[in-house]
Amino acid sequence: MTKFQERVFSGVQPTGTLHLGNYLGAIKNFVELQNKYNCIYCVVDQHAITVEQNPVELRSNILEVLASFIAAGVDYKKQIIFQQSSVAAHSQLAWVFNCVSRIGWLNRMTQFKDKAGKNRENVSVGLMVYPNLMAADILAYLATHVPVGDDQKQHLELSRDIAQKFNNDFGVNYFPQPEPLIYGNATRVMSLRDGTKKMSKSDPSDFSRILLTDEDESIASKIKKAKSDSELIPESSKDLQDKPECLNLINILSACLNQSVDKTLQNYSGKEYSLLKKDLAESLIQIIKPMRTEIKNLLNNKDELDAILKDGTQKATNIANPIIEDVYKIVGFK
Ligand code: TYM
Repeated sequence: MTKFQERVFSGVQPTGTLHLGNYLGAIKNFVELQNKYNCIYCVVDQHAITVEQNPVELRSNILEVLASFIAAGVDYKKQIIFQQSSVAAHSQLAWVFNCVSRIGWLNRMTQFKDKAGKNRENVSVGLMVYPNLMAADILAYLATHVPVGDDQKQHLELSRDIAQKFNNDFGVNYFPQPEPLIYGNATRVMSLRDGTKKMSKSDPSDFSRILLTDEDESIASKIKKAKSDSELIPESSKDLQDKPECLNLINILSACLNQSVDKTLQNYSGKEYSLLKKDLAESLIQIIKPMRTEIKNLLNNKDELDAILKDGTQKATNIANPIIEDVYKIVGFK
């Protein structure tokens, strides 16, 4: 087996202000991983238009995601951050993968089934072939490691299948099998109102999620109103199996404090949830306040953000273009 050079790639959609799930599930790990790997982090605007977007809002969301990466601690001088649509390689490779991937594979994607619902005949073709574009994002850089939240696991498995099928179809060992990096205590942050649903940008209730731009008072009141329990906090997470909202609060606090769930339970067992909520709100404010301030500052300096994007585009293009050249030769275009 060829040893591929290790490289991290991940992406975030510019479909609204980022929330705590995006941060704890993915972006916090992006920041950690940059100490060990060369990393490429992408604002995936082409993914965003698989569902309808307002063009003016889309442009402003692109800059906000970029600002959030930087505010969270991604080092744009050492690593690459850029916008997907500005590097043609993503679309070029996605087309090749559209012809490698199978309709049966895409039909099995649970996220597609959830998003399309009963409206399956009427959603965009883009929404269906979205995982092929995701595979292209990763493999246009021969990336080996992909930090994501738990909800992207199935898409990552499909990327591996596509890489494997391309290699088999053309008798090469060109693409690596990208490995998902899903780790931490908050790989799936749930809604604060309903612990069976994941925290998401599209939930109609603002109280279901904490945003990276939320003011201190808003964070405190969302946590205070979060669904929990009148019983005391138990000793073991097994006792929380039928109380997903409580487990969610404990997972979030553990992730904020970088400690195990067992340790958090040790500290809080026998106490009331109101105490845990108070500490959780304080921890979240400590994490979010500096990010919120930095996001605002950066968004006041759009020229600087544009310059960062331009630089990232150039660096990403320099890596991806020779890979597209190779792929075009392998498939017989050149
Ligand atoms: P997106 O934009 O929906 O989410 C960005 C990242 O945040 C994670 N995430 C969560 N983690 C924990 N709990 C939650 N409630 C939660 N909600 C979101 C996601 O898992 C993701 O890591 N298809 C991707 C974007 C993408 C991509 C890629 C990722 C496009 N190309 C290539 C990796 C590699 C998406 O829609 O993420």
